[in-house]
Amino acid sequence: MRHLLDTTDLTLSEIDDMIELAMDIINSPDKYAHICSGKKLATLFFEPSTRTRLSFEAAMMELGGNVLGFSEAASSSASKGESVEDTVRMVSCYADIIAMRHPLEGAPRVASTKALVPIINAGDGGHAHPTQTLTDLLTIYREKGTFDNLTVGLCGDLKFGRTVHSLIKAMSRYNNVRFVLISPKELTVPEYIKTDVLDPSGAEYVEVEKMEAVMPDLDILYMTRIQRERFFSEEEYLKHKDAFILDTDKLANAKESLTIMHPLPRVNEISTAVDDDPRAKYFVQALNGKYIRMSLIITLLKWGELL
Ligand code: CP
Repeated sequence: MRHLLDTTDLTLSEIDDMIELAMDIINSPDKYAHICSGKKLATLFFEPSTRTRLSFEAAMMELGGNVLGFSEAASSSASKGESVEDTVRMVSCYADIIAMRHPLEGAPRVASTKALVPIINAGDGGHAHPTQTLTDLLTIYREKGTFDNLTVGLCGDLKFGRTVHSLIKAMSRYNNVRFVLISPKELTVPEYIKTDVLDPSGAEYVEVEKMEAVMPDLDILYMTRIQRERFFSEEEYLKHKDAFILDTDKLANAKESLTIMHPLPRVNEISTAVDDDPRAKYFVQALNGKYIRMSLIITLLKWGELL
């Protein structure tokens, strides 16, 4: 039984295969329209979501399967004190594969120890969001045709932004990727991302507090929101909430080939005027999320000999 708990659970060759399958799904959707007939996906969301939960559900429906689940802990027996382990053990009896989001870091890993079916981490606290990273990789592949030799700017809340942590883990495995980490000094990436991920990979990185000066260098600009729900105080959040607002003026010196990404939801860190710029790819990115999740569901079910 294989689970997806972090991007590093996958080899680069497995990621390539998953992207290749996603591309085939995009090009020939009819081939896959019934492949999961009779199969069920459970979406266990203990924390709010729009894109991840709905794209998982759309993905399973477009594969001919069915979905069940809950969208908040309050509507599950977690509100009565049931443990994650017991919840997952039960749901394993009702579904063939489980996508789970939880505010506690490591909860999907704990769940995987009791699950009888594949578990997909759909985001755990500030730790990881591997299916967002697969979404990001498919987007980069479709826009750039490669993962190598890219300068990737990551901007915003790099401390609490789990999508950033997962993307750095994934992209640092490719050749000659350079990271420009743009954040207030209070919201820089956690130390372990530097010591355990960036330093061993040999990837070059710089940390800066402003985006304007580095804009001309970037091949990809990955904007993120300030993660209000992870701050200890509202006062601290308010201090940083408008730290970065990407607008058309700030893009004046950017490359024509820049790809602007954002995992969404957006609050105010990208002006809506930027949406009309052909370099803005964040809504395409959200669509790619459905395709890569279709690919992931098929892959995990096959690895578990459930398909
Ligand atoms: N990108 C992302 O995880 O969005 P949701 O929180 O809406 O799922």
